Formats: sequence, structure tokens, C-alpha cells
Amino acid sequence: MLLILFVCYCQVSLVMAVSIPNPRVCVIGAGISGLSAARYLKAAGVNFTVLEATRYIGGTWRYDPRVGFDDHGLPVFTSMYKDLKTNLPKPTMELPGFPLPEDAPSFPGWKVYYEYLQSYTEHFDLKKYIKFLHHVVSVKREENKWKVKHKEVVTREEFEEEYDFVIVGVGHLSKPKMPYIKGEKKFQGTIIHSHSYRIHDPYKCRRVLIIGAGPSGMDIAIALTDVSRKVIHSRHTFIKFRTPFPKNYVKKPDVKELNETGAIFVDGTYEDIDDIIYCTGYEYDFPFIDESSNLTITKSSVTPLHKNVVNIYQPTMVMLGLVVRACFVVALDAQARYTTGLITGNFSLPSQEEMMAEWQKKYLSLRAQGRPLSHMHSLGGNEDQYYAELTEESGIERVPPVMFKIRASDTRAIVDNLLTYRHYSYKVLDSEHFTRTWEGNENEHERNKSFSNC
Ligand SMILES: Cc1cc2nc3c(=O)[nH]c(=O)nc-3n(C[C@H](O)[C@H](O)[C@H](O)COP(=O)(O)OP(=O)(O)OC[C@H]3O[C@@H](n4cnc5c(N)ncnc54)[C@H](O)[C@@H]3O)c2cc1C
Ligand SMILES: *[C@@H]1O[C@H](CO)[C@@H](O)[C@H](O)[C@H]1NC(C)=O
Ligand SMILES: *[C@@H]1O[C@H](CO)[C@@H](O)[C@H](O)[C@H]1NC(C)=O
Ligand SMILES: *[C@@H]1O[C@H](CO)[C@@H](O)[C@H](O)[C@H]1NC(C)=O
Ligand SMILES: *[C@@H]1O[C@H](CO)[C@@H](O)[C@H](O)[C@H]1NC(C)=O
Ligand SMILES: *[C@@H]1O[C@H](CO)[C@@H](O)[C@H](O)[C@H]1NC(C)=O
Repeated sequence: MLLILFVCYCQVSLVMAVSIPNPRVCVIGAGISGLSAARYLKAAGVNFTVLEATRYIGGTWRYDPRVGFDDHGLPVFTSMYKDLKTNLPKPTMELPGFPLPEDAPSFPGWKVYYEYLQSYTEHFDLKKYIKFLHHVVSVKREENKWKVKHKEVVTREEFEEEYDFVIVGVGHLSKPKMPYIKGEKKFQGTIIHSHSYRIHDPYKCRRVLIIGAGPSGMDIAIALTDVSRKVIHSRHTFIKFRTPFPKNYVKKPDVKELNETGAIFVDGTYEDIDDIIYCTGYEYDFPFIDESSNLTITKSSVTPLHKNVVNIYQPTMVMLGLVVRACFVVALDAQARYTTGLITGNFSLPSQEEMMAEWQKKYLSLRAQGRPLSHMHSLGGNEDQYYAELTEESGIERVPPVMFKIRASDTRAIVDNLLTYRHYSYKVLDSEHFTRTWEGNENEHERNKSFSNC
């Protein structure tokens, strides 16, 4: 599979110019990606429309108690849960030039953040550009245009329009990645994916198995130790969390199999389980992107993209927000500014050959480190370098290095103590420096968290 990709990439030798006079632009999705694109396109006087499948702006930041399908038969998009607080501190959650309210906590809950996105939309007067309840079903390249088909979800009326540019901003944390676990069908308790986790009430005094230790897995596991009788957490040990876990938290290795009453782990131990929550992450899912886009889309990667944004084969299609291990909000905003500069002709892309050569170099370096293709989307330790590259190529204002530094500090605090990292408050001093202050109780570091009395 990888070999085929590779051969095919090597044969490309077209050079493509992107600049189109008075382009018409289609933005898909009105989450942070789509809203940011709208803000800058509007400021640049570009003719654009945003198509959004739901009635709401804000994408995943809008809590919806429903799970499964919405009123119009579409899968409920948001993965938000009621008690969610951000895992990145305020300065890294702010869109440039539009601060969060002064009195917002250092790690705001979803509601504060959702209201922030609503004020943002109002402030930049973006609503009038958004067609709500328009679900994009197909994006096809035909005769040098993008044919975009969308459906009004209530009336089911179908529309087809032609655009010069397409900006895809539909997020990638909505379609659950489900594990295959032997004996799953036998298990008599409940099983959900974290996409459908909303409130902790159903888990009161229950024995809950959490599988996976990404941000959601760690966050939900810790939250449930407050209410559940026992939280059994099946996770790998890549990260050595130093948290003094509450006494009703039990760490376990991978599940070997399930039976009617519980889980048998690969170390041979067994635990009785009432409920299971799969915190196993999400899949990339862009069912509307036709193969005429020439992108190769798998559950964990989209290739080949220049700077994780521009479709190298069809540079009039860009994908916002695919990156992981980053200050998402700041990264999406920078990508939106880069994209707007591309559309207005403020800068030109390198030739297709050069973009492909750069892409391949990164790909080969990953392979040499034994890392999978999906890591192409991971900024991680290269996040600041990424911002420098975006600016170098496009001339957009650079995301200051202090953003990456704050994320690094936050990540260390998370590893040190999941129970207390949100008690730090961060303040940006200048583009390189910040201060961090402890705002928790004096002995909070040492004190063990209380846990449920079941
Ligand atoms: C539970 C959870 C917690 C998170 N916590 C943090 C955090 O603390 N800090 C942080 O920085 N980031 C966090 N994130 C990451 C979050 O994804 C980003 O902050 C950001 O919301 C991504 O915005 P987006 O616009 O790219 O996508 P989304 O917010 O996913 O929005 C996509 C929009 O596209 C619409 N759409 C989808 N398909 C179609 C279609 N076919 N046609 C039309 N419209 C469509 C959807 O309805 C949605 O409105 C979290 C994510 C989740 C799921
Ligand atoms: C934007 O493009 C559409 C379709 O070509 C056109 O109908 C509309 O008038 C344009 N709007 C502006 C403000 O130019
Ligand atoms: C499930 O397996 C465990 C461990 O082997 C066992 O103790 C338990 O009785 C089994 N449950 C059922 C219903 O067979
Ligand atoms: C892109 O896809 C189209 C149709 O799927 C195909 O005809 C074309 O050769 C592809 N172009 C490249 C550069 O691969
Ligand atoms: C284009 O460049 C000009 C001059 O540097 C700048 O003022 C403007 O903001 C840029 N526009 C975009 C959309 O990048
Ligand atoms: C906190 O828990 C750890 C591990 O469970 C234990 O070693 C330590 O003594 C506890 N501290 C307090 C203050 O109870």
C-alpha cells in the first residue's frame, strides 16, 4: 500500500498555478475552522459561503444531551460532555485579537467557550455568510471547478453549485474509532464510545471499564472516580502519569476478552464490570470528498497535503484543522489566515514537484523513525517550527513561540498531576515569555483526591 502511494507520488511533475481572479469560495463547516476562515475571507473581500449541516455554530463545542441521531436523521455531531473543561489554558484557547472574558477561568468549561465562539461570530458579523442546515454530500472536481452538492436537511431540497475554492473544515473528532474486543457480544453491561458520553450520572456507584488513555480517556476516568465505585482503566504505559490516583482507580493492561460479567486482561487478571466506555479516539471521515480530489483518505490520514493544509494535487482544495498534538485553536486560525492569503494571491505555492518533494522528505523521515503515516498530522514537538514555516511561505503574522511553550508547560503539568493541572493560571508576557501561577489550595499537590463513597 505504502509502496503504491510512493510510486504514484514520484511520477507527478505538473506545476500548478492557483491564482484565480474573483474566486468563489465554499467553506464547509461552521466550527472554529469554518468561522476563522469566514472572518479572514470577509476581511479580504472574498465572495464566499459557509455550509453548515446543523443549526449551530461552534461544532464540537456545543454540548448536546442527545446521542445517536438528531431531529433530521443526521448523526449527532458533537462529542462534548457536560463537565468538560479545556485541557489547554486560556491564552492558547483564544482567537487572535479576541480575548476570552477577563473573568473566565484559566481552563474554561465548554459553556464559557461556546459562548465565546458565539460572541466571536457576532463580533465579526459572520452569521449572514452561513447557510445553516445545509449538509454537504458531494464535492467533485469537474471542468476546473468544484461541484458542491448539498442538501437542506429539513426540506431535503438538493442544491448544486460551482466554486473555485473549497475549504473543508468539518473537524475530525466525531466518528468513533471502535476497537474489536473478543467476547464483546457476550458482555451483559452497557458499552458506549466517549463520543456518546454526556454525563456521569449513569455511572454512579458502578464498576466502569475505561479503555484508552488519550485526553478523553484520562479526563473521563478521573471524573468518574468522583462518583463510580471503581474505575478500571485499561491503558498502555507510554506516558508515565505521576498522578496520585484515587484509591478506586485501578490501572490495567489491554483487555484479552470480555465475558458476560467482566473483563479478562492480558496479564490474566479478571475484573467484574458493569459498564464500558471506549475512549479509543476518532477516525477521519470525509464521505463527501470525491476521488476526483486525488486525495488518499484513510481512517487515520489524508495525503498528500502541503503544510497539512493544501491538497497537493488540487491546490484549490484545502483542509483545515487536521493537525493533532497542537494548540488547535491557534493552529486553525493560522491555517485560515494562510488559506486566505493563498486565495487572494498574497503568495504563491511552490511548484507541485517541490511540494511533493517536501512532503516526501517528511514522510521518509517518519518512516525512518518507525512512525506511522498518521503521524504526518501530529505537530507535537515541531509545532513552533510549523508556525515558522507557514509564515515563511505566506507572510502571515507568525504565531508567537510562547504558544508552544505554554502547551509544553501544560503537558508537563498534566503528566505530573491530572488532578491539579487546571489550578495553574498562565499569562503571556511577550511573544517568547509567560508566567505560570498556582491558584489551587496550598496542599493540593500532596493531598489525595477524595473519591466516591459507594
Ligand atoms: C471532547 C473534546 C474536547 C476538546 N477539548 C479541546 C481543548 O480543551 N482545547 C482545544 O484546543 N481543543 C479541544 N478539542 C479539539 C477541537 O476539535 C477543536 O478545538 C476545534 O473545535 C475544532 O474545530 P473545527 O472547526 O475544525 O471542527 P468542529 O468543531 O468539529 O466543527 C465542524 C463543523 O462541521 C460541520 N459539518 C460536518 N460535516 C459536515 C458536512 N458534510 N456538511 C456541512 N457541515 C458539516 C459540523 O456540524 C460542525 O459544526 C476538543 C475536542 C473534543 C471532541
Ligand atoms: C458571489 O458569487 C455569486 C455566484 O457567482 C453571485 O451570485 C454573487 O452575486 C456574488 N456576490 C458578490 C458579493 O459578489
Ligand atoms: C468470566 O470470567 C471470569 C474469569 O475467568 C470468571 O470468574 C467469571 O465467572 C466469568 N463469568 C461468567 C458469567 O462466566
Ligand atoms: C486525479 O483523479 C482523476 C480522476 O479520479 C484522474 O483522472 C487524474 O489522473 C488524477 N490526477 C493525478 C495528478 O493523479
Ligand atoms: C496580504 O498582504 C498585505 C500586505 O502585506 C497584508 O496587509 C494583508 O493582510 C494580506 N492579506 C491576506 C489575506 O493575507
Ligand atoms: C496518597 O496516596 C498515595 C498512594 O495511594 C499514598 O502513598 C499516600 O500516603 C497518600 N497520601 C495521603 C496524604 O493520604
